[in-house]
Amino acid sequence: MCDIVRGKKRKRNNWLQRHARDPYVRRAKAQGYRTRATFKIMELDRSDRLFRPGLVVVELGSAPGGWSQYVYSKISPGGTLVAVDLKEMPPIPGVTFVCGDMSRFDIKRKIIDCLPEGSADLVISDAAPNITGIGAVDQSKTLALLEDSLDLACTVLKPGGRFLVKLREGGDMQGFRRRCALYFKQCAARKPGASRARSPEVYLLGTGFLSGKRSL
Ligand SMILES: C[S@@+](CC[C@H](N)C(=O)[O-])C[C@H]1O[C@@H](n2cnc3c(N)ncnc32)[C@H](O)[C@@H]1O
Repeated sequence: MCDIVRGKKRKRNNWLQRHARDPYVRRAKAQGYRTRATFKIMELDRSDRLFRPGLVVVELGSAPGGWSQYVYSKISPGGTLVAVDLKEMPPIPGVTFVCGDMSRFDIKRKIIDCLPEGSADLVISDAAPNITGIGAVDQSKTLALLEDSLDLACTVLKPGGRFLVKLREGGDMQGFRRRCALYFKQCAARKPGASRARSPEVYLLGTGFLSGKRSL
């Protein structure tokens, strides 16, 4: 076995061991959530009161559905959750799922058609590209996805609406934060405890959507 293959195997085994010991993984299993990521959105909700019954929410990058399970329980009764992912997501009663690439015109059209009056109070995105391990490639894929999320938020949000998006610190992330600040009254970074300390991920919360909706 060559050194590269051995190195990859070791990395994977370390990840599996860390995953098995992770308290959030155990809690997610015990409470019936599909992912440990549920605890991130739960914490963000506790600190920023993101959800309440009746809210209209678009969730980008939703599969396998850990966030969707929690979000739908908090916006019920009367709320609408439109979840979007490239991959199929096992159904969750009450949640409308759109399968496809959020950057595509036809997918955006579908999302809008699923929303009451075509607009939303909140857009949340935990979307992440497939990581190649090549820094520059991953950075540009991440940025493109962030731009697509912001574009969709600006298309569907009601004035005063909110936008929560996952980003990775580094690269041109400061530029993206500055761009978000053009569309929202306030933008602030959040790092929930359930997000691994060694992970570069942070969440950016934009509140008070300023401009009128963008046309598709
Ligand atoms: C970290 S996972 C989301 C996990 C989810 N929050 C949960 O708790 O189950 C990121 C997701 O983003 C999706 N994704 C990546 N690019 C996308 C795109 N262009 N359009 C829609 N979904 C995308 C991936 O398919 C992946 O399922």
